[in-house]
Amino acid sequence: GAAVVTDTASIENGQMITLKYRGKPIFVVKRTEDMLANLSKVAPKLADPESNGSVQPDNCKNETRSIQPEILVVEGVCTHLGCAPMFRPEVGVADLGGADWMGGFFCPCHGSMYDLAGRVYSSMPAPLNLPVPIYKIEDTILTVG
Ligand code: FES
Repeated sequence: GAAVVTDTASIENGQMITLKYRGKPIFVVKRTEDMLANLSKVAPKLADPESNGSVQPDNCKNETRSIQPEILVVEGVCTHLGCAPMFRPEVGVADLGGADWMGGFFCPCHGSMYDLAGRVYSSMPAPLNLPVPIYKIEDTILTVG
């Protein structure tokens, strides 16, 4: 399929947009400094914090799972049975683990929780982190595919 291009300058800090690529939703989040700082704090609670068993291109094999630290690009497809997780960026949500919740994605189908790098929490139905698709980013211009 044709690549999908968007300008990340149009995304508000801390917000997400959804693109469509090859029939799949692609979540693009502009992470704040606080969100990035929380990635290391939440790591002990994750099933695969270094994403060793999960899918991402080589240029996203790093702590933020991204090319530019602030821009997260992941497939919006739960690795359990394929539902679309919801973007829940706020911290400390009572029904999402309370103080342990550092913001992320919540799958409404069977309750899998992911952090703001798309990394799944331990003991969830979903076995793997959300996949990161192949993409490139030049200044603010994001091209998926
Ligand atoms: Fe997401 Fe089952 S499909 S938890």
